[in-house]
Amino acid sequence: MKATACRKTHFNAAHRLMNPAWDDNRNKEIFGVCSNPNYHGHNYDLIIKVTGDIDPATGYVMDMKLLKELTDKHVIQKFDHKNLNLDVDEFRQLNPTAENIAMIIWNILRKEIDHKFSLSVVLYETERNFVEYTGK
Ligand code: NI
Repeated sequence: MKATACRKTHFNAAHRLMNPAWDDNRNKEIFGVCSNPNYHGHNYDLIIKVTGDIDPATGYVMDMKLLKELTDKHVIQKFDHKNLNLDVDEFRQLNPTAENIAMIIWNILRKEIDHKFSLSVVLYETERNFVEYTGK
């Protein structure tokens, strides 16, 4: 009797996409306006999915209060209103694409959430563009 509990949350952040091994022209060719040297912002929507057995005692997969607390403390406080390239250590050497942001969030939360649950991170960079990272 497995189910997936999902919590949707939100943060705002700035970033610049670039590969430091490439010159400005090549970065602009690959990343377009997302490689603007002075950064740009996104309103990210984040969905954390936790899959596991329904606990017969509570009827929950996972207590949503706990999932909210873990996400707020370890992800939202770290990312919200930040410049990802400059303010978040994980992106000093890593391009802050939606894919990489989702992977970093997954790595952070994987340490906090019981391994009896499987974990998936869905990150919307725009209304139409989103990625999913499941650690596989
Ligand atoms: Ni962007």
